[in-house]
Amino acid sequence: MSGDASPAYLRFAGAPSSGTPLCRLGELPPDGAKGFTFGEDVNRFEMFVIWREGELRGYVNDCPHAHTTLDYLPDRFFSLDKSHLLCGTHGALFQVGNGLCVAGPCKGKRLTPVPVRLDGDMIRIG
Ligand code: FES
Repeated sequence: MSGDASPAYLRFAGAPSSGTPLCRLGELPPDGAKGFTFGEDVNRFEMFVIWREGELRGYVNDCPHAHTTLDYLPDRFFSLDKSHLLCGTHGALFQVGNGLCVAGPCKGKRLTPVPVRLDGDMIRIG
């Protein structure tokens, strides 16, 4: 008997399927982080991607503390010094590379990763 290997983000209502296009790499803002919203109401799904030092990452835009979105302004996901991801609601800080909360009310919890990939210059859910 094998375990269910479905990515954790698929537990979220409205999560788009693998292969869904997000945007072209050149459309990311200078910070290299951009949010995306799919669906509405109970099927609303929010996520963001980060392009940094040649690596692409994606996370569900859902803080593990109070389940608000992280960005305090549209597409603003980084702390002021750009060293961490920041939840603007209560100030939790997350490591960019693995989504681990290292400071704030949800320390030790993690953002939920969304697999993303480059298809030419198009960023897709992977
Ligand atoms: S909701 Fe993110 S730190 Fe509280």
